[in-house]
Parts: sequence; C-alpha cells; structure tokens
Amino acid sequence: MKDIPLFTTENGAANLILGCAPGFGTAYVRVLSAQDGDALARECAAFCQAAGAEAVYATGLPEQESWPLSTEIWRMTAQKASLPQSQAELIPVTAETLEEWVTLYNRKFRAVPNAVWLSPGLGQAVLKAREAFFVWLAGQTVGIAKGAENEIHAVAALAPGGGRAAVLALARELAGPEITLEVASVNGKALALYQSLGFRKTETLAKWYKIG
Ligand SMILES: CC(C)(COP(=O)(O)OP(=O)(O)OC[C@H]1O[C@@H](n2cnc3c(N)ncnc32)[C@H](O)[C@@H]1OP(=O)(O)O)[C@@H](O)C(=O)NCCC(=O)NCCS
Repeated sequence: MKDIPLFTTENGAANLILGCAPGFGTAYVRVLSAQDGDALARECAAFCQAAGAEAVYATGLPEQESWPLSTEIWRMTAQKASLPQSQAELIPVTAETLEEWVTLYNRKFRAVPNAVWLSPGLGQAVLKAREAFFVWLAGQTVGIAKGAENEIHAVAALAPGGGRAAVLALARELAGPEITLEVASVNGKALALYQSLGFRKTETLAKWYKIG
C-alpha cells in the first residue's frame, strides 16, 4: 500500500504512512501543520481506515489535543565497550532463509507499538542491505536481530535469554563507540532488557496518539 506524502484538507496537512496496514492493520499519521488538530486527525483516521487500517496513530498533534497517548518513542544508548560479553553469534540471513526470518519477525513484532510490518518488498531490501540475522547460542537459534552502523533496529527472542543474546551479539558487530536504539516507552519487556544491559534513555523522539 502506497504512503500519501502530503494529505491536505482545510484543517491542515499530514503525511499518511500506510505501508503497515496490510500486515499489521496499523497506519501512522505525521501531522505537518494543523489549523484544527482534532478535525484533521478525524479526517486522516477516516482515510486510513478506508484504506484498511484498523488502528491509526498520529504524531505532531498540538500538545493540547485530547487523543489518548499511545506511546512515546525513546532513544536509548550504551557504550559498546561497557556491554557484557556473550557467546552468542550472528548468522546472516540469506536468500534461502529470508522467508523464515521475515515470518518470525512479523510474528514477533505484530503487537509491538510502532513496529514496521515487513512486506515481501521490504524483506528483499533488508536482505540486500545485509542487516538481518539469526542469533545462535549453545547450538540453537535463540533470536533474530536487525541493525546497521551503530544502530540496533530490532531484536526478538525465540527462546529464554534470546533477547539478551540478540542485543549483545548484534552490538558486538556494530560500529562503536556508542550503540543506539529506539524503543516504545510502553514496551516494558524491551525496556527492562535494555536497562539491564546498561542502555539509558537519552532523548524522547516522538509522542504518538491513538486517533479515530
Ligand atoms: C523484547 C524481548 C526481546 C525481551 O526479551 P526478554 O524479556 O529478555 O525475554 P527472553 O530473552 O528471556 O526470552 C523470552 C521470550 O522468548 C520467547 N520464547 C521462549 N521459548 C520460545 C520458543 N520455544 N519458541 C519461540 N519463542 C520462545 C518467549 O515467548 C518470550 O518472548 P515474548 O517476550 O515476546 O513473549 C522480547 O520480549 C521480544 O522478543 N519481544 C517482541 C519483540 C520486541 O518487542 N522487541 C524489542 C523492540 S524495541
């Protein structure tokens, strides 16, 4: 499903992100300008719902808007040198294993706030960028991971301890000295994991409200 870069009405303008609607049933609205935030949000939500989204979230609404806060997105960082050692290893995803990895990713991230649904096209892009990995520990696959440069894009556990293994194995291969990631403030399990490994919140990047 194509995004709408500029959706304009007499109440304002927004960028409608519809790429996750087919898989996760979610759509995202970045408000660019609003004369009447409530009215614009209602119009955006109606458009996204007509395009197949069951849940619609917006950011950039004026502070006094009355929609319920869904989540904040936080940046967290840690010094690579201070992270614990791990025996876990990364196994790069190949053309043969891509479908399995994408299926696992979409299963684990369906309920994660603001997660991106990987369409077949995005899956191919991830493969080409060499950003996707299985995480291997003590003879079994314990997680999946995605990242590039100094940034962790995604980690998920497929066995107890898999989340920790995924963060540490990926961080070891990423560029330092600082490792960074983005997390939804309402994702308690992810926050607990990152904090236990020494990641600290450095910035609030966005506030997302549920609209419609
Ligand atoms: C965030 C996350 C990695 C934290 O992990 P953790 O609390 O440290 O958990 P552990 O590493 O001890 O592993 C437990 C996980 O392994 C899963 N698991 C255990 N045995 C499993 C098995 N045989 N097959 C598949 N999964 C299994 C559990 O379901 C649990 O995952 P869940 O929290 O999604 O329910 C984990 O909750 C997760 O994968 N969440 C979904 C993806 C996510 O939110 N990622 C972070 C985004 S920023």
